[in-house]
Amino acid sequence: MDAYFEILNQQNEVNVKFDWIATATGSGGTHAGLAIGQALSPEAIPVKGYSVEPNAQYILDHTLAIANEALKMIGEETLLKTKDFYFSEEYSGEAYGIPSPIHIDTIKWLAKYEGIFLDPVYTSKAFTALIMDIKNGVIKAGSKVLYVHTGGLPGIFAYPQYF
Ligand SMILES: Cc1ncc(COP(=O)(O)O)c(C=O)c1O
Repeated sequence: MDAYFEILNQQNEVNVKFDWIATATGSGGTHAGLAIGQALSPEAIPVKGYSVEPNAQYILDHTLAIANEALKMIGEETLLKTKDFYFSEEYSGEAYGIPSPIHIDTIKWLAKYEGIFLDPVYTSKAFTALIMDIKNGVIKAGSKVLYVHTGGLPGIFAYPQYF
């Protein structure tokens, strides 16, 4: 939640207005926190969580549940509903921890052109799905998207067969 407000402050500092915030989602904590920040803020930037595995309805349900638990904990009466969450499990590959060739390509591409390393389990899946959303027009070309890179770099060393 604090990260959401930090993002608002930082976008003012660099004079950018983000149209979207995008992040990987595994157990839902990151997405839930950002979504709470958005819900409590007068300046709403939609937050999209990209699942790192297919058949992920249970992740969305869990995200909603922990977001609402947190809102109750801080005394908020207005709770969130499933429709308040932007969520996608497309392009998440066949299973958790199993990257598809496209995810590995994304890691290599971003490393080559930007010097930024994604990991095979979380961030490459979300970043790939984000690029596909842009390619498919789900997120309009030219939108300003903040991709929250959640780390995981050491994961690369667990997949030496791809690099
Ligand atoms: C690198 C990385 N990104 C994203 C996530 C997913 O975050 P969350 O569990 O908050 O959805 C994890 C979870 O372990 C992670 O290790």
